[in-house]
Amino acid sequence: MASLFGLFKKQNSIIGLDIGSSSVKVIQLRKEKGRVILETYGELSTGPYASKAVGQAVTLAPDQLALLIKDLFKEANITTKVGAMAIPLRSSLLVTIDVPDLPEAKLAQMVPLEARKYIPVPISEVILDWSVIPDMREELIGAEEPNAPTVTDKAESEKMPKMKEVEVLIVAIHKDTIKQYEEIARLTNLEAKFLEIETFSAMRASLYGSRGAMVIVDLGAATTKVVIIDQGTVRLSHTINKGAQDVTLAIARSLNVSFAKAEEIKRKVGLVEKVGDKDLGETLSPIVEYIFNEVSQVMVEYQKKHNRSVEKVFLIGGGALLPGLFDLAKSNVYAPVVFATPFDRVDAPAFLENILQAVGPEFAVSIGLALRALEEL
Ligand SMILES: Nc1ncnc2c1ncn2[C@@H]1O[C@H](COP(=O)(O)OP(=O)(O)OP(=O)(O)O)[C@@H](O)[C@H]1O
Ligand SMILES: [Mg+2]
Repeated sequence: MASLFGLFKKQNSIIGLDIGSSSVKVIQLRKEKGRVILETYGELSTGPYASKAVGQAVTLAPDQLALLIKDLFKEANITTKVGAMAIPLRSSLLVTIDVPDLPEAKLAQMVPLEARKYIPVPISEVILDWSVIPDMREELIGAEEPNAPTVTDKAESEKMPKMKEVEVLIVAIHKDTIKQYEEIARLTNLEAKFLEIETFSAMRASLYGSRGAMVIVDLGAATTKVVIIDQGTVRLSHTINKGAQDVTLAIARSLNVSFAKAEEIKRKVGLVEKVGDKDLGETLSPIVEYIFNEVSQVMVEYQKKHNRSVEKVFLIGGGALLPGLFDLAKSNVYAPVVFATPFDRVDAPAFLENILQAVGPEFAVSIGLALRALEEL
């Protein structure tokens, strides 16, 4: 828990609030003469608010969350109630579909009908948004045509000429989810300027470099979220049902200790050392490898479909901090892997540089939210 610069006044300050399943993160930023200044940041685990251990993923009711958020704001010396909140990807739908290249008005009729196939509840219960993904062929000079037909495809298409297709990104959030977040805001007196699906916040805070294909891997407690972004647009999102909590559970089983003790050992030892005569690496590596093999598969599928190779993989989420994970990620994924460094986007005192570098991946979502909130102030 960091608690800094409590002396700052609230003028022009905003917060980004990321309510994760195992921990809630907040960051407070201020804009001054065009610079973005870090005022304070902090994090609190959700587990203890549901009589569970630190690091465990739990579902808290809005009133329990409100209690936690009030505690967090106090501990982190938050001095403003204006900001933005992230909506978890698991409460949203983010999908790209291929549709015929029709005029906008026709698409407006067709896309909601198509979206129904992916949305397990009546369409009236969700807020739906969509946009046509810009045709990358127009932007890429000298690149091969994506979706170039293979020999067998060609035979098919000669029989039945195919209409040109475009890709559409569909975004849906259940109205109940929005109500829940509004309720949390009400209970904490938070003036939420907007709610944003965490994926978009993470992109804003993490990505740098060219507009080539990038992957963000968010290692949360219960799940790992993989998103492919190309030319600045989300092209694919995929959730792996394994997360950093599974590593803790494996330690608890292997060493016959409680979850809380295992969590402690995980953060300190990770995959790299022995505990007594037990080599934790042997037990834990398969879990991490499982996750990154699936990341790799998603990348390969994307590459096959679009003929675009991934330039860089950014790791975010608390799970990315597991000692030893980085090397395993590097050896299991074909593209260069880096930790996201979202604090690079803010001005902070030099003495914090190392700690901010180390905890950066955990705060990617909250920082991304706060950066947008500052723009909209
Ligand atoms: N220093 C650390 N070393 C190893 N693991 C860590 C460290 N800090 C946090 N973790 C692990 O990170 C996980 C939590 O990550 P994070 O806070 O990103 O998840 P979350 O946002 O709560 O989850 P989600 O986004 O899936 O809702 C926990 O399993 C925790 O044990
Ligand atoms: Mg998270």
